[in-house]
Amino acid sequence: MSNVFPSPHPLVAHKLAILRRKDTDPQHFRELIREIAALLTYEATADLSTKPISVETPLAVAPGLELQEHIGLVPILRAGLGMVEGVWELMPNAQVWHIGLYRDERTLKPVEYYNKLPIEPTVSVTLILDPMLATGGSAVATINILKRWGVSKIKFVGILGAPEGIELMQKHHPEVPIHLAVIDEKLNEHGFILPGLGDAGDRQFGTG
Ligand code: PRP
Repeated sequence: MSNVFPSPHPLVAHKLAILRRKDTDPQHFRELIREIAALLTYEATADLSTKPISVETPLAVAPGLELQEHIGLVPILRAGLGMVEGVWELMPNAQVWHIGLYRDERTLKPVEYYNKLPIEPTVSVTLILDPMLATGGSAVATINILKRWGVSKIKFVGILGAPEGIELMQKHHPEVPIHLAVIDEKLNEHGFILPGLGDAGDRQFGTG
């Protein structure tokens, strides 16, 4: 699968195993979501563009680089919210634009309920944050929204991805890179990722 990047990093794998455990409590679960989000974003942003600058050290002038991009984080409510804090630790000036989608339990199709994007785009690159890429419907709908907004550089940063969701993304938006902690086996008959970690929203917010 091209343009899909499961993390090769042992720290991510270690934290993911704890995240999956059914007895990991919400506080620990949130910490892990935050930490994994930061590690995956480090990998996902390796190609951000920079411009050369000069920096005065106490002793001399050194060449340096400055990020050129205006970065927007787009967490998909609710589960993507917990990833924001981790990414903000790496890029505290990133704008955050929330998109509210929930999956209709019967059809598994995403339903949009919150979107306050201004008319003109205010960022040059967006990172969509959502721990779960299941059928892929929510991610595809979010990319449709961002493309209509006028952003062309879009990346998806998730934690678990099902093959079904990756396939749907690649059918509709093949140019959008998908960064994940891992690709899981499949979806069950209710659209849940297997072996998965349960419901990432409920486990973060203690609502399960
Ligand atoms: C979950 C998850 C994703 C979506 C993934 O959200 O956080 O947003 O489902 O499924 P998909 O790839 O099949 O679209 P959910 O609808 O449970 O809402 P919540 O985060 O508010 O709990």
